[in-house]
Amino acid sequence: MGRLVVVSNRVSLPSDKGAKAGGLAVALEEAMSPGSLWFGWSGRRGGTNAGRPAIVEHRGITYATVDLSEAEYRRFYVGFSNGALWPLLHYRSGLFDFRRDEFEGYLAVNEMFAARLAPLLEPDDVIWIHDYQLLTMAEALRRRGVANRIGLFLHIPFVPPAMLHVLPEACQLVRAMAAADLVGFQTEGDRANFLDCAASCMELHRAGADGFVHDGHRTMTIVTPVGIDAEGFARTAQRAAGMAETRRLVSSLVGRALAIGVDRLDYTKGLPQRFDAFGRLFQRHPEHLRRISLLQIAARSREDVDRYQALRHELDRQAGEINGAYSDFDWTPLRYMTRAVNRTTIAGFYRIASIGLVTPLRDGMNLVAKEFIAAQDPADPGVLVLSRFAGAAEDLTEALIVNPYDADAVADAMHAALLMPAEERVARHAALLGKIRARTAASFCRGFLDQLREIER
Ligand code: ADP
Ligand code: F6P
Repeated sequence: MGRLVVVSNRVSLPSDKGAKAGGLAVALEEAMSPGSLWFGWSGRRGGTNAGRPAIVEHRGITYATVDLSEAEYRRFYVGFSNGALWPLLHYRSGLFDFRRDEFEGYLAVNEMFAARLAPLLEPDDVIWIHDYQLLTMAEALRRRGVANRIGLFLHIPFVPPAMLHVLPEACQLVRAMAAADLVGFQTEGDRANFLDCAASCMELHRAGADGFVHDGHRTMTIVTPVGIDAEGFARTAQRAAGMAETRRLVSSLVGRALAIGVDRLDYTKGLPQRFDAFGRLFQRHPEHLRRISLLQIAARSREDVDRYQALRHELDRQAGEINGAYSDFDWTPLRYMTRAVNRTTIAGFYRIASIGLVTPLRDGMNLVAKEFIAAQDPADPGVLVLSRFAGAAEDLTEALIVNPYDADAVADAMHAALLMPAEERVARHAALLGKIRARTAASFCRGFLDQLREIER
């Protein structure tokens, strides 16, 4: 069986210590097995890779990374990837910022990745490219004569044609994606949108319900939701609950309930709306005053993108307003921190929380929802409040499903969670746990790669 070559913009290098925020790194780290190669950006700018990737071997995995120049970083990462594609694919055309030189910078970095990877490839390698930063890389590899099987998995949503065509070069992207043999999505809705976009851009013949042929090349699609190692995370949470950090958190609560939110500080995560909803809880249900605190851990992310800076200022302001309005001399309703926290520590925090607030305005999947469920004590679990716009909501229907734009409804869901009888909490949690155990990080990889390996080229 050929070697697995994973390609992603972010690579979780063995030398990267400490907390990592971001679903892709978490999912792939759990899935990499000895003998594989992981290729991507080193995370450095203006370095001196001088044409060749830097290679590191660790526990049988080869890591090959390239640096970006400052200009590449600005145009590819800050510009087109996170200023244009990210908002557009999260249905936020109002935040979409298109500049042609940034689009060209994006294409150039995808070419550069292909040029650096191609010499490392062996004929029977199976190549698996990840996420929106690398949508044109499969095509760039094909132009270099790479005939290997190529898969592409999108960790974030895919939008319908009416939204995608806001992007002037939408069809160029869709055609480049179709150069892969297998294109994977988190949900059926995302896959259907991609197939509609492909039909809007190309003369194609459908190949069954899930694929199409264009220009003699067959592109198949698959839905494989990303999961977590639920059993492993549950063990971590159980252990972490006895550790110093969780004990300190418990003692600081002096018997009050805890609601928890854990996210990258990103406008797709619905944090201003979540803060609003938390304030509404005290207005609509004042019996909870002094009885609950919300711990929001929001890891700073993409700080060179203007929108992210603006969001941070907005949240600082809102946090001050909520605490100014409701705090007491011995109670702070909102505890808000803007850094990443170690995953083990977070697991312990989830375990002691009565409510997990996962309320993105749009999200490809959302692993925090799954981590929260895995971390609970099955005999006395907390309640997950989950946005209907997270990919995870397609499956996790026993959570309290909310529309994150409706602050009053989210406040009412928190109220319902706080009052929910133990029997109902246990039943909902058991159903959710069964689902996340069935779809792990490993089964996500197996599902995708088994199908990719079956493809005849
Ligand atoms: P995204 O990929 O958009 O960041 P996900 O919810 O799918 O969203 O994945 C986020 C991952 O990063 C989870 O594993 C979560 O535990 C981790 N994470 C998110 N925020 C933080 C944080 N503040 N500190 C540490 N880890 C975080
Ligand atoms: O899955 C969403 C995702 O954008 C990943 O592609 C990415 O690695 C992660 O979130 C964190 O974002 P960034 O790599 O821009 O820090």
